[in-house]
Amino acid sequence: PLVAVIIVAAGSGTRLGHELPKAFVPLAGRTLLERAVESVFGMREAAQVIVVAPEDRLDEARALAAGRAGSAVGYLDVVSGGDSRQASVKRGLAVLRPDVDTVLVHDAARALTPSALCDAVVAAVRASGAGVVPGLDVVDSIKRVDSQGAVLAGVDRQDLSAVQTPQGFPRRMLLSAFDTATEEQTDDAALVLSAGFPVSVIPGDPLAFKITTAWDLHRAELLLSARAQ
Ligand code: CTP
Ligand code: MG
Repeated sequence: PLVAVIIVAAGSGTRLGHELPKAFVPLAGRTLLERAVESVFGMREAAQVIVVAPEDRLDEARALAAGRAGSAVGYLDVVSGGDSRQASVKRGLAVLRPDVDTVLVHDAARALTPSALCDAVVAAVRASGAGVVPGLDVVDSIKRVDSQGAVLAGVDRQDLSAVQTPQGFPRRMLLSAFDTATEEQTDDAALVLSAGFPVSVIPGDPLAFKITTAWDLHRAELLLSARAQ
């Protein structure tokens, strides 16, 4: 059975504030989309890679993604996204090949994610038969506050995990969760959990951070230039 990875890249990147949609913004000479695709095609096993792109940039997304697929044996599909991340994931799910048993959903915005993290998620889904999300321990003290900024209570960080993507699921669980979804959830794990399926956390990777703001893009540039030394 095959693994599919849906790379959602159809957002506009409002918080980044760049003239280009976020996935098409260059990071040290290569777009976030190219970097994300390259990482996914670097997985140990062949995959069906499904890029979900803005409707008016499908050809551009296809060219960028195909250029990074290298000699990897797998499949590449490019489809147009929807108005929300969840709608974009759903568009990707519609083109799953019949032989896919495990589906990963990944943010193009997590452009520096190591291929090994994708491999680890696939292995954990296969071993557990459940949903798997990478997560990092929370190091900051977290407070619950009201709208005026008054601190209401502390939150025990032992109870918290800062989750990332790729998030992986058995195909039937993810499809069933999307079929029964009635409202927008923050991520795919939330959707699957609300449909009543188990989800567990495995160790994430600091390099899988999401590029959201201009500061994040700058941090990614610094990391790449340090690596080149
Ligand atoms: N995404 C998508 N379709 C949407 C919205 C988001 O495919 N309608 C994707 C983005 O391209 C991104 C990932 O979901 O790779 C995570 O979303 P986020 O970081 O919020 O990206 P944007 O929505 O583009 O950014 P912003 O919220 O700042 O506008
Ligand atoms: Mg967004």
